[in-house]
Amino acid sequence: MKKITSHHLREAKRRGERIVVVTAYDHASARIVDGAGADAILVGDSLGMVVQGHDSTLPVTLEQMIYHTQCVTRARPRAHVVADLPFGTFQRGAGPALDAAIRLIQEASAEAVKVEGAGPRLECIERIAREDIPVWAHLGLTPQSVHGFGGYRVQGREKQAFRALLDAARQVESAGASALVLECIPYELGREITTTISIPTIGIGAGPHCDGQVLVFHDLLGLNEEFRPRFVKRYAEGARDLGDAVAAFAREVREGTFPTLDHSFERAADLPDAEASAED
Ligand code: KIV
Repeated sequence: MKKITSHHLREAKRRGERIVVVTAYDHASARIVDGAGADAILVGDSLGMVVQGHDSTLPVTLEQMIYHTQCVTRARPRAHVVADLPFGTFQRGAGPALDAAIRLIQEASAEAVKVEGAGPRLECIERIAREDIPVWAHLGLTPQSVHGFGGYRVQGREKQAFRALLDAARQVESAGASALVLECIPYELGREITTTISIPTIGIGAGPHCDGQVLVFHDLLGLNEEFRPRFVKRYAEGARDLGDAVAAFAREVREGTFPTLDHSFERAADLPDAEASAED
């Protein structure tokens, strides 16, 4: 069982093998995702929405990212572990961005970090990559820019925005990014970027031509019944099926059919009845 590294992901692109990425935020989900054979686990700041219940990823702190990444890496996954640099860690420049990346690597055993955006963030990507820390870039609908975008909207549809994103993809590659997440862009742009740059592209709502695909654990398992965006395919109806399981437990407790003696412990065979009842 050989650990997957950023080198393997680059090789996968070269060989034309699709890369599978799933988010995880704790030990149990990391074990499921790794056991299912994902190539990379993204400890995404989407945890702010799917785990913490916020409306955006903006409230997620570096301390929380470190905590969740520690929970994931304690599962010792074979998959490459990438942790998000949360909002506020790279907007103040390359120095603070590098400090945050070092904490995720040193304290939480992440193997790569992810930075949203290009423009002023190119300097951060460059600075982190220069220290031999693999950096994933992230373009398109970058959720940390939700207020700047005026909502969660598909990016790069118009000619100028299409070209700007294509340029940004070239720039993050030149800055030293080891992979590029493309979120909610037209599939034609996903295809164009994927064939233009040599680092792997990982799509989420970016069409079928990307080198790999990522989905949020809770989305692919249908754990939030109300969330049904076009780019998500559900591979399970988790909220329904897990809800049914908890309801079955509740029913059996109320009707007295759980636990049975099969789920119970027995006293020692040589314990006199009087002593056993005294402990009851
Ligand atoms: O935070 C996250 O989970 C992400 C993915 C949606 C790409 O950035």
